[in-house]
Amino acid sequence: MFGNLKPQAPDKILALMGEYKADTRQGKIDLGVGVYKDPNGLTPVMRAVKTAEQKIWESQDSKAYTGLAGTQDYRDAMAGLVLGEAPADRLASAATVGGTGAIRQGLELLRMANPDMVVHVSDPTWPNHLSILKFMGQDFVEYPYFDNDTRGVDFEAMLDGIGRAKKGDVVLLHGCCHNPTGANPTAEQWEAIAESLEKTGAVPMIDLAYQGFGDGLDADAAATRMIAARLPEVLIAASCSKNFGIYRERTGILMALGEGGEARDLTQGAMAYLNRQTYSFPPDHGARIVSTILEDADLSANWKAELEEVRQTMLGLRTQLAEELRSLSGSDKFDFIEHHRGMFSRLGATPEQVAKMKADSAIYMVGDSRLNIAGLNRDSVPVLARAIVEAGV
Ligand code: LMR
Repeated sequence: MFGNLKPQAPDKILALMGEYKADTRQGKIDLGVGVYKDPNGLTPVMRAVKTAEQKIWESQDSKAYTGLAGTQDYRDAMAGLVLGEAPADRLASAATVGGTGAIRQGLELLRMANPDMVVHVSDPTWPNHLSILKFMGQDFVEYPYFDNDTRGVDFEAMLDGIGRAKKGDVVLLHGCCHNPTGANPTAEQWEAIAESLEKTGAVPMIDLAYQGFGDGLDADAAATRMIAARLPEVLIAASCSKNFGIYRERTGILMALGEGGEARDLTQGAMAYLNRQTYSFPPDHGARIVSTILEDADLSANWKAELEEVRQTMLGLRTQLAEELRSLSGSDKFDFIEHHRGMFSRLGATPEQVAKMKADSAIYMVGDSRLNIAGLNRDSVPVLARAIVEAGV
């Protein structure tokens, strides 16, 4: 029977990880998968995470099941982090298996509420959004997003695209640090997006995987908070993988803000049901690390300070790369790298140019020319800049 299975195309981002590993060249540069690396190329366990784990080890006296939606402590802590003042009467939430789990459960929840929905996704978007939608057999359409000339958001086209959504459709948005482009709407443009959603009656689903990696924890949540306050129904899929550096712990959360009352209870019940059908109880260890940190003022301050170091490191690399490219190319056409935010920038290179950089300089970036800024350090930035110019980007 297993012989009937069809071969699956490997995930491009994960396949690149394997290719990089197998490359024996000295000085190879990994700008592929979205994992933070310090200047030594290591993905450290954050200080506050280590301390929280120690506290948990010392105090935890049971590994019995928690709840189908995870612990209330975690859900409250995350509601505070993402929403600031969380409107408890409107909020249903459930811990999930990472941000990917939140996306999947969120789409399942929306489809239970409206089997006829169409999901509107940015062109481009995180490839796994598309892969999940296809696997679910869920109808979706793409809305224009990236302007390959300016390497910024093609906002007029985007607004036109999301304006075509119908009542009950879903518009998937990246709350900050757009993956894969690094180009993000301005605060004013976010207001116009909210207005469009109000007009059409489409439901926003916000993927918030990089809070704290762009302009800071609160600034990165500002668009999400504004939309949550303005729109009657909003879904948020948040990840702790990147900002807490707990990738393999698979820690995420799905939050739904609705009208409150019975609708809230129905939503909460549906989330618990979905978890039960998929994996029963969500993982607890990462969630407990997060709530331990966020509930403790000292640990929280320590975590925020380290996250800020990470953010500043990435901004410094952006500035250095833009400067190198300005001097090598004699033009300001790469200044967008400094304006992009988060872990990624889409360079706008052709697949051939991306392949040339890999072949000639052992530089690995995703085929659509998404590069992970955090894969660089002060020494590798000039190498990349040279390769970009030599490839004729
Ligand atoms: C990425 O976009 O590289 C990350 O979100 C990791 C992943 O799972 O794709």
